[in-house]
Amino acid sequence: MSAVLTVAPLADADIADVIVLWQRCGLVRPWNDPEADIALARQNANADILLGRAGDVIAASVLVGHDGHRGWVYYVSVDPEYQRKDFGRAIMAAAEDWLRARGIEKMQLMVRADNTQVQAFYESLGFGEQKRIVYAKWLDGRELTP
Ligand SMILES: CC(C)(COP(=O)(O)OP(=O)(O)OC[C@H]1O[C@@H](n2cnc3c(N)ncnc32)[C@H](O)[C@@H]1OP(=O)(O)O)[C@@H](O)C(=O)NCCC(=O)NCCS
Repeated sequence: MSAVLTVAPLADADIADVIVLWQRCGLVRPWNDPEADIALARQNANADILLGRAGDVIAASVLVGHDGHRGWVYYVSVDPEYQRKDFGRAIMAAAEDWLRARGIEKMQLMVRADNTQVQAFYESLGFGEQKRIVYAKWLDGRELTP
């Protein structure tokens, strides 16, 4: 039987712990400031960060948002000590519900090409690969990061 994950939006007191979670999951890149990412997501009505707690421990998280057309998720994470207990499935279900409640019909996400093991996770949740080329540009003019 699956352990219970209780999902709720991130509160101020959770910020330090969720950054540790993202670091433990290998999701923090040198060019991304997680504290700034959290602040920006929380100041916009079209985004939020959902946390999953197993008891008192923050075991899972997702940054979910939409651009007025499609829904996106970032920082999908389950603490290594809690993986393979369906917590990833549960936090993604909460993100899907968050988007459905706002009238969004399609969820999209990007996976780094070297993150091969996560592909089985998303496929088990019903996601399929879409043949698209993703273009990106930093708006402050700096060189594109990998
Ligand atoms: C990806 C991640 C969120 C999955 O979380 P999780 O709680 O372990 O996933 P679940 O237990 O909900 O798994 C659901 C299903 O996905 C598949 N799956 C999950 N992890 C898998 C893995 N490492 N290898 C193969 N299949 C996997 C399985 O089918 C699994 O069902 P099963 O356990 O009954 O076999 C977690 O591994 C993680 O945080 N990874 C590091 C961060 C990361 O890469 N995030 C995604 C960035 S795009």
